[in-house]
This record gives sequence, C-alpha cells and structure tokens, in this order.
Amino acid sequence: MLESSSVPLFIVFILLFILLLIVLLIRKNATAALIWNEIIREKVTNFIMSQSKEQRILNFVLQNAVRGDPCSVLDTIDKYCSQKEWAMNVGDEKGKILDKTVEEANPSVALELGTYCGYSAVRISRLLKAGARLLTVEFNPEFAAIAKQMIEFAGVQDKVKLLEGPSQEIIPQLKKKYEVDTLDFVFLDHWKDRYKPDTILLQECNLLRKGSILLADNIIFPGAPDFLNYVRKSPHFQCTNYPSHLEYMKVEDAMEKAVFLG
Ligand SMILES: C[S@@+](CC[C@H](N)C(=O)[O-])C[C@H]1O[C@@H](n2cnc3c(N)ncnc32)[C@H](O)[C@@H]1O
Repeated sequence: MLESSSVPLFIVFILLFILLLIVLLIRKNATAALIWNEIIREKVTNFIMSQSKEQRILNFVLQNAVRGDPCSVLDTIDKYCSQKEWAMNVGDEKGKILDKTVEEANPSVALELGTYCGYSAVRISRLLKAGARLLTVEFNPEFAAIAKQMIEFAGVQDKVKLLEGPSQEIIPQLKKKYEVDTLDFVFLDHWKDRYKPDTILLQECNLLRKGSILLADNIIFPGAPDFLNYVRKSPHFQCTNYPSHLEYMKVEDAMEKAVFLG
C-alpha cells in the first residue's frame, strides 16, 4: 500500500508516464500526429488567439505573399503549413501531380469538390487556358469565406466560381443552374466517403464525357477504399496510381487518376 504522503508523487509519475506515451505515439504514428495538431494544439491556439487556423493562414498570405501572383500565394501557404501549422491543402508535392493532370486534361470546365482555403483552386485556375473556368464546391461557410479572399488575393477570381453547399446537392444543379454541359476535369478532395457516391452521381447526371479526367486525393491517407474498388473494377474507368506523401508530412499517400471511357 502507498503511504498517503507518496500519493501526489505517484500521480505525478503516472501523468508523466502518460505524457511520454502520447509523445512517443505522436512521433511514430501519423494519425496521432494529426490528432495532436488538429485537435489539441490547434484548438488551444484558436482559444488563445480567438482566431481559426484558416484565418491565420489567410492573414499570413495577406501579409507575406504578392497580390495577384498565384505562385507566390501557393508558396506562402506551403511555407506556413510546413513550418507553423499543418493544414489539409493538397500541398506542394501532390500539387505537382495535380498540375500535370490539369495540363494533360487542358480543361474548359473543371470541377473541384472540397475548396477549403482555396489552395488547390488557385493551383488549378492558374493553369487554365483563356475562357476556361473552375467550379469549386465547399459546404463549410467559414472555409468558403476564407477561400473567396484567397482566390481574390491571388488574382484568379475571374476563372473561379465558388459554389457553397454539399456536393451531393450542387452536382445535380450543375447543368441547369451553372450551364455545364460536361466536365473535362474533376478534382475529388472532399470527405472521402463522398468520393464513390459523387462519382456515381456525376455519371447519373451525364456530366462526364469520354475522356473526362477524375483525380482523387488522399487515397491512402486517410484513404478512400470503396472509391478505389469502384473505379478500378469499373469497365467505364481506366485508372493510374501516383504514389506520393501526405501534405507537409513524410506519411505515405497517393492520388488516383480515373479516365472516363464512356
Ligand atoms: C481536404 S479539404 C480540401 C483541400 C483543398 N482541395 C486544397 O487542396 O486546398 C476538404 C474540404 O472539403 C469540404 N467538404 C467535405 N465534404 C464536402 C461535401 N460533401 N460537399 C462540399 N464540401 C465538402 C470540407 O469542408 C473541407 O474544406
């Protein structure tokens, strides 16, 4: 039995042991690292600064990037998110795969599912030919407001239309409300459980044509197994896998390109 005077010491010892376990877990495990960054560290910083992480990213861009220069905006976001606070932008490494795929598709009409702060919208739109447009869908009003300012600051606002709402409601409206005939390029980067149903919805709404290119992010981390299974087994898609890493981390991730064959 412990003597009553040694109880506080014992509690301190147990707390230190738990802290040590948490630190070891964070260093070894990407999920734990993200939980630490996204839930614990970020919430504490938000509380102290009375400001969201996304607002901090925008402020850093407004103070450090060159207005009207999309590349400077991208570099500044990458700098903040790799050095200060992790955020779920596609990032610079997978961004290069995104760039190549956009160049290959050379879209007149592109769709992005999941805008967040506008990083990939700026990335895609800077590569669009004259007269082409990007429709980007975001259901979180706070993120949508940040993205609008980011897109304007980067000077690509004439090429990008931000549609606020859930993808499953916006996709069926694309033809009539937004005058889309078919989509040349689709970037899937919203919540992973929507990749498969939204890919099916795009086909049901006749928004894909022969040769439309779909690019899906995060197919390993956090992963979209039902989507992968669906497109890889479907005779309507031809798939290519691009191994990479989770944005701003050394964790394995990949993108999947799925070309619609009609
Ligand atoms: C990974 S982030 C997108 C990152 C962004 N594409 C980039 O690289 O800069 C995912 C975003 O999708 C949004 N989202 C998730 N599910 C959605 C849905 N069903 N409809 C619209 N937006 C959604 C989330 O609010 C979040 O902002």
